Amino acid sequence: MLTALLLWPLHAPAAGGNWPDYDDAHLKAGREVWLGTCRECHGNPMSDAPQAKDRSAWTTRLAKGSEVLYEHALKGFEGPSGTEMPARGGNASLSDAEVRAAVDYMLKIVAP
Ligand code: HEC
Repeated sequence: MLTALLLWPLHAPAAGGNWPDYDDAHLKAGREVWLGTCRECHGNPMSDAPQAKDRSAWTTRLAKGSEVLYEHALKGFEGPSGTEMPARGGNASLSDAEVRAAVDYMLKIVAP
């Protein structure tokens, strides 16, 4: 019983605990959006999306520059291999600023 109580917190849902948090308010806001919408693919190895912690998956993407990456996150993008980034990660309720902040948060993980 005591053991179960001690272990219980480990089984509590991880509210993004594995993902870096930053002091910067913009990145904090981006993190909330990212955890809520983007993690499902970009923090999920079962997805064919480039993973936030896989820097090599981002080398050619980073070279496009952040304006192009924002545009692709906002409007959607289909890569050469046919995998698809849905517009706003499929969450139409996100504002442009929220999507940009989520991109900034993810790029901060990719290239700190
Ligand atoms: C349903 C899965 C899914 C969700 C949810 C998702 N993405 Fe993506 N995303 C992808 C896939 C797949 C790609 C890779 C497309 C390709 O290049 O083939 C991608 C690529 C990207 C890229 C790189 C685009 C480029 O030009 O290389 C950015 C930036 C991005 N996503 C941002 C986001 C953000 C921000 C969110 C949350 C608001 C998000 N994604 C949510 C699947 C997803």
